[in-house]
Amino acid sequence: MNLGAFDKTAAYFPDVCFATPPDVGILLGSGWGAALEMDEVVFRASYADIPGIGASTVPGHAGEFVLYRRGGKLVAAWCGRRHCYEGAGWEAVVAPVEMLRRMGCQTVLLTNAAGGINPLLEPGDFVIIRDHINLLRTNPLVGAHVPEWGPRFPDMSEVYARRLAELLRAGVNRLGIRAMDGVYAFNMGPAYETPAEVRAYRAMGADAVGMSTVPEAIFAKSCGMKVAGLSLVSNLASGISPATLSHSEVVAAGEAAKPKMRALIGDFVDRL
Ligand code: HPA
Repeated sequence: MNLGAFDKTAAYFPDVCFATPPDVGILLGSGWGAALEMDEVVFRASYADIPGIGASTVPGHAGEFVLYRRGGKLVAAWCGRRHCYEGAGWEAVVAPVEMLRRMGCQTVLLTNAAGGINPLLEPGDFVIIRDHINLLRTNPLVGAHVPEWGPRFPDMSEVYARRLAELLRAGVNRLGIRAMDGVYAFNMGPAYETPAEVRAYRAMGADAVGMSTVPEAIFAKSCGMKVAGLSLVSNLASGISPATLSHSEVVAAGEAAKPKMRALIGDFVDRL
């Protein structure tokens, strides 16, 4: 990847998107569509029309960029993400974060659906991501060094900013939402894990597993952004319950959790 790969994507956005740095960027994962409450839309665009991003191929992803105001805050929201497993390359996966960086945004909230590994988790719970395990052993920064994206060897000792995690924690407590602070393991997918893999990830210290977020988090952290991460536990991970796994279950869990997602994201934005 190089900076130039994103110039065409950036050129698509009108000046209004670069005029004022958004207070926060939000990336909504599977089942998180319609989790935002907007007072006033400043600009919106369908992913299909944005060069370098392209239409989402995954049901449950709205595929829309929306710049909006809520209270006194300006929010740049990517409603739906592109995943590694879609095969469109790292550019499509990290372009949303690169656009946020070019807009001057310094804080990003990454959301996803995940399988619960920690035995205390139940479907419908949230996980405030405090750290991650990258099971891929590669990441979007592999390649020629791009100084605009941070140092050659970026520190990853606190990918998920403590202050933002504490803000999310205060929010779930205030709203009475069940949530655990935890470690998210990133498996590329699109195949779900086997029970043996889930047992191995548990032994490694993972609380939840999913197919996203970590590439964007590594990229954003390297660029100097403050990162927050939030998973909705849509199902128990493979082998933890006897049920087989399906994406329709993930989307349905997102639908059921919508009021909590809205309250939680609204609270987070308001108190930033
Ligand atoms: N595994 C991986 N990704 C997921 C899961 C899961 O169990 N649930 C939702 N996304």
